[in-house]
Amino acid sequence: MDKSSTKPLSIYVHWPFCLSKCPYCDFNSHVSDAIDHDRWLTSFKAELSYFKCKVEGDRVVSIFFGGGTPSLMKPSVVEGILNHIYDLWDVEANCEITFEANPTSIEAHKFKAFREAGINRVSIGIQALNDEDLKFLGRQHSAKEALEAVDIADKIFERRSIDLIYARPNQSLKAWEGELTRALSIINGHASLYQLTIEQGTPFYTSHKRGDFSIPSGDEGADLYDLTQDMMESAGMPAYEVSNHAIEGQESAHNLTYWRYGDYVGVGPGAHGRVTIDGHKHATRIHCAPDIWLERVAKDHNGLQACDVLSREDQNIEALMMGIRLSEGVSIADMSLDQARLNTLVQEGDIILDGDMLKATRKGRLRLNSLLSYLLSS
Ligand SMILES: C[S@@+](CC[C@H](N)C(=O)[O-])C[C@H]1O[C@@H](n2cnc3c(N)ncnc32)[C@H](O)[C@@H]1O
Ligand code: SF4
Repeated sequence: MDKSSTKPLSIYVHWPFCLSKCPYCDFNSHVSDAIDHDRWLTSFKAELSYFKCKVEGDRVVSIFFGGGTPSLMKPSVVEGILNHIYDLWDVEANCEITFEANPTSIEAHKFKAFREAGINRVSIGIQALNDEDLKFLGRQHSAKEALEAVDIADKIFERRSIDLIYARPNQSLKAWEGELTRALSIINGHASLYQLTIEQGTPFYTSHKRGDFSIPSGDEGADLYDLTQDMMESAGMPAYEVSNHAIEGQESAHNLTYWRYGDYVGVGPGAHGRVTIDGHKHATRIHCAPDIWLERVAKDHNGLQACDVLSREDQNIEALMMGIRLSEGVSIADMSLDQARLNTLVQEGDIILDGDMLKATRKGRLRLNSLLSYLLSS
């Protein structure tokens, strides 16, 4: 069969465990010393088989192990999941298969086994390049360990990305410029650079509210963002998404599926998916609690908490919310957005309209939420 005529699909696998919980993080992650890895493998396989029977899409173009901390998985479990995906679907020869890794030395020494299990891209959560800030962020690794993990990864994986968090308490423009300069010497094609956000329900939310620390103000954050964009553009890695930078060709195919509003299956506790079932796009959400997920999958072969049909309007809104994050922009041909509001945003320098494509400018990208609510409230 001509492969281009088949429907592409991405697969997200959520591993919900970490060594410890970082105080800023609101991802679905838990600390446990009693993980039955074999049972997790069986359950992931069962949920993947369940989705295979339901969803359209026969050509897997990317697979992503996210978390939590997937580098804590047993490589044999990763291999078992990948083999199962190969058994169920037609997987493209150049399929991007990423896992998120924390750079403790124990995890870095498992990289080779992950490569042998079938992983070809690693995303390493470095977060900061100085030990004081790593400690503040509650990380379990030093800057030196992180650099060693990068070295090990580069000998093993075809592709590698790093995550950094900036706009940390008291971080001056000069300090971030120095740190990003050092980071650039190890960024070899892709980096995700996030501004620290204080998420409700996290320990940082409480301590920040109590006044234990402050983070850069809106204006300071905007200056840090500008500096980041300037430095990454000069280094040949402009943002292809608000927080993601790559040299051409090194963009994350998996994340592009989300932002281009493609279909993806999400398995494991708390995973979200966007899949086509009987010709209709659905939003899926898996139960977050690991134990409940295991029980439900054992009983029903899936841990779905929601599987909702998306109306055409819902889809347009979601496609806009995701696509506006991309430098390439988003097609608004099928959307009925208010022309006067679009014109206002163009005049204010927040967006550019290029035919049917709407693109946020650098200025607009800094205030995407208010921009979207302005556009969508009309
Ligand atoms: C699923 S998380 C982490 C993956 C991996 N467990 C780790 O910690 O490296 C993906 C990324 O989101 C970013 N992140 C998580 N919470 C954040 C926050 N509150 N503010 C900014 N970035 C955050 C971090 O850079 C992190 O590497
Ligand atoms: S940032 Fe990563 S290691 Fe820390 S709690 Fe969140 S998922 Fe776990």
